[in-house]
Amino acid sequence: MSTFKAPKGTYDLLPPDSATYLAVREAIAAPLRNSGYGYVETPGFENVELFSRGVGESTDIVTKEMYAFTTRGGDQLALRPEGTASVLRAALEANLHKAGNLPVKLWYSGSYYRYERPQKGRYRHFSQVGAEAIGAEDPALDAELIILADQAYRSLGLREFRILLNSLGDKECRPVYRAALQDFLRGLDLDEETRRRIDINPLRVLDDKRDDVQKQLVGAPMLRDYLCDACKAYHEQVRELITAEGVAYEDDPKLVRGLDYYTRTTFEFVHDGLGAQSAVGGGGRYDGLSEMIGGPALPSVGWALGVDRTVLALEAEGVTLDLPSATSVFAVPLGDEARRVLFAKVTELRKAGIAADFSYGGKGLKGAMKNANRSGARFTVVAGERDLAEGVVQLKDMESGEQEAVAVEAIVGELKARLG
Ligand code: HAM
Repeated sequence: MSTFKAPKGTYDLLPPDSATYLAVREAIAAPLRNSGYGYVETPGFENVELFSRGVGESTDIVTKEMYAFTTRGGDQLALRPEGTASVLRAALEANLHKAGNLPVKLWYSGSYYRYERPQKGRYRHFSQVGAEAIGAEDPALDAELIILADQAYRSLGLREFRILLNSLGDKECRPVYRAALQDFLRGLDLDEETRRRIDINPLRVLDDKRDDVQKQLVGAPMLRDYLCDACKAYHEQVRELITAEGVAYEDDPKLVRGLDYYTRTTFEFVHDGLGAQSAVGGGGRYDGLSEMIGGPALPSVGWALGVDRTVLALEAEGVTLDLPSATSVFAVPLGDEARRVLFAKVTELRKAGIAADFSYGGKGLKGAMKNANRSGARFTVVAGERDLAEGVVQLKDMESGEQEAVAVEAIVGELKARLG
């Protein structure tokens, strides 16, 4: 063991578990690729102001959790705590919105960083796959994203997740609600920090997990009752569209997300097997974000699903993904001549697209067969001096245990045929 350990709140992805992570990323990305979303990749850090303006000065993410630093050149940067602001920044910078093809639909996959108190399901370095549809106000787009996330989770075999849905209103109706909520909250018995929150981010108080706070919130004005007609009609259409597709959801009038940019549709995917960190994904509409970061008006919607928590959700449901073995053929040479011959065969198999591996380090038969077993290979090819003198190699089917001699020249063709 080295003297170094992974930093607090982080962990390493290692084989064999890492294969599950890759498969989860792939399962989330597949429906997006299949629905017109193009891949986008942005830097792991941005100007800190992009996040303070975009995600919001009053959010925990910006005030408490950001890895912000000043570079040697004097730039104020931050490791990205989320993807939406960066993706929108990139789209605006490249003028994708001017190419006459709205919405611009983008998907991404990567690492994000938040200085949070680590616990199960909550890390300082975590991984998301996300999607953003930029520049269109259409309830069908909100519905599309919710349906695609549902499809992704189902394709992984998850069943015990729920979709929580809410509307946060728009710049017409939300300020009216905000004022009414502030009036109500000021009459409650709350601690200093929560009182401060009433001024900067009153909706967040609704999200307070403490019982004594929740008790006092009974009778609080609900945004639902303040939505303007346009927001109400929009929300109704989103609900109708996802209902028509058979996607079950729950109305959650108290759902407030931890980022400031949301308007109208907001949703969260929660998994009941995860304990406190139950949100496996979340998203919503952010019609004002573009203007907040200096762009034109570009109503948009998106989500991000947490890869770490999705893997934990699979574990909680006892789902093991049916992952194909990484190696199909394992070659075991016994002696120098066999090394040369089998090394060439392994290279040939690989070129033909067959996953093949080789016993390195001049091991004896016993040790090499142990490696072959561990590799999960379906077939092992063994060759010694005597085999080669007869012009053959031994082909062992690791499932049936049967072994037979196959001519050296015929082995690649035989394996191709058997692995078909
Ligand atoms: P978010 O709800 O902050 O939204 O994060 C989305 C998901 O990332 C969470 O549901 C969770 O699964 C995962 N996640 C967040 N923080 C952590 C953590 N510390 N450890 C492990 N997993 C975590 C956003 O980030 C928005 N950008 C989503 C969005 C896209 N909205 C519109 N477009």
